[in-house]
Order: sequence, then structure tokens, then C-alpha cells
Amino acid sequence: MNKSNVERTFAMIKPDGVRRGLVGEIIKRYEQKGLRIVAAKLIKADRNTVEEHYSDLRSRSFFNELVEYILSGPIMVMILEGENAIKLVRMINGATRVEEALPGTIRGDYATSTAQNIVHGSDNYENAQREINLWFPELRTNETRKLSVL
Ligand code: PPS
Repeated sequence: MNKSNVERTFAMIKPDGVRRGLVGEIIKRYEQKGLRIVAAKLIKADRNTVEEHYSDLRSRSFFNELVEYILSGPIMVMILEGENAIKLVRMINGATRVEEALPGTIRGDYATSTAQNIVHGSDNYENAQREINLWFPELRTNETRKLSVL
């Protein structure tokens, strides 16, 4: 039987994406692939939230640089929903490393360095739940998949 796997994921347009005027282009790519925007907001992130978001990278040499970069300007955070949304967003985003990001992906078409790579997408179900809760505390319920307002 063909079971559907509709799920929600978290995506971020990082400061360089916003600064370069790519918000519309990026959202178009998500939407034209069938993903639905459940929630979205343009914000200036606070340091605690960014450090928490990347907490598993705390010991990495680039951690401080990464945090400062995310704090360097407005970002757009969103919840996207659709069939296999977690994998789909990461495919549309493209590989993390600039030299591996294929043309046709957001990073392949626009990123100029690994450190500043335009977008972020949750890498698995647990992180999607964690990141949605972290960036959208106003929507927090016992079960994130049942956001009552949307
Ligand atoms: S790793 O090395 O595999 O643990 O890292 P990876 O999972 O590929 O990337 C995790 C996030 O770290 C960012 N990153 C960097 N930022 C700054 N400088 C350097 N050198 C660097 N290398 C990786 C990378 O963009 C990932 O960010 P997100 O937002 O999760 O895509």
C-alpha cells in the first residue's frame, strides 16, 4: 500500500539569503515542489536561540563564526509541510559544502562559501521537532504535529 508520509520540517533563510534578496526565489522553490508554508517570520535572532539551535556543534572550531553569521542580519524562519518534507527541503537546499552543491539546488546556484550557505533545513525528524519548538515557541503544543492554529 502507498502510505503517505506528510510531515513538518524547519527551514531558515540565513542572513546572506535575506541580504541578497533571495527570499522570494527560495520560497518559490519550496512551494513549486509542493511544500506548504505553515508558518513564517522574518526576525533578528537572539544569541541564546542560535546557540541552542547549533548546540551539537559547540565543540567545533567554526561554532563562534557560525553563530555570529546567523546574528549578522535578519533571517527568515519557517515551518514547511508536505510529503517527505524533511528530505525534500534538504534536497532543494543542496549539499552543505559549496564545492559539493549541485547546480539546480539553492546552494549550488547561489552559495559562494560553506560558511555562508544561504539556507538551513532540519536533518531528521527529531531535529525538525526540536527546531520548530525552538524557533516558534508561540506555537508550542504538546504535540507539534497538531498545531491547532494552522
Ligand atoms: S559537520 O562538519 O558535518 O559536522 O557539519 P555539517 O553537519 O556539515 O554542518 C553543520 C552546520 O555547520 C555549518 N558549517 C560551517 N559554518 C561555518 N564555517 C564552517 N567552516 C562550516 N562548516 C559547516 C554548516 O553550514 C551547517 O549549517 P546548517 O545551518 O546546519 O546547514
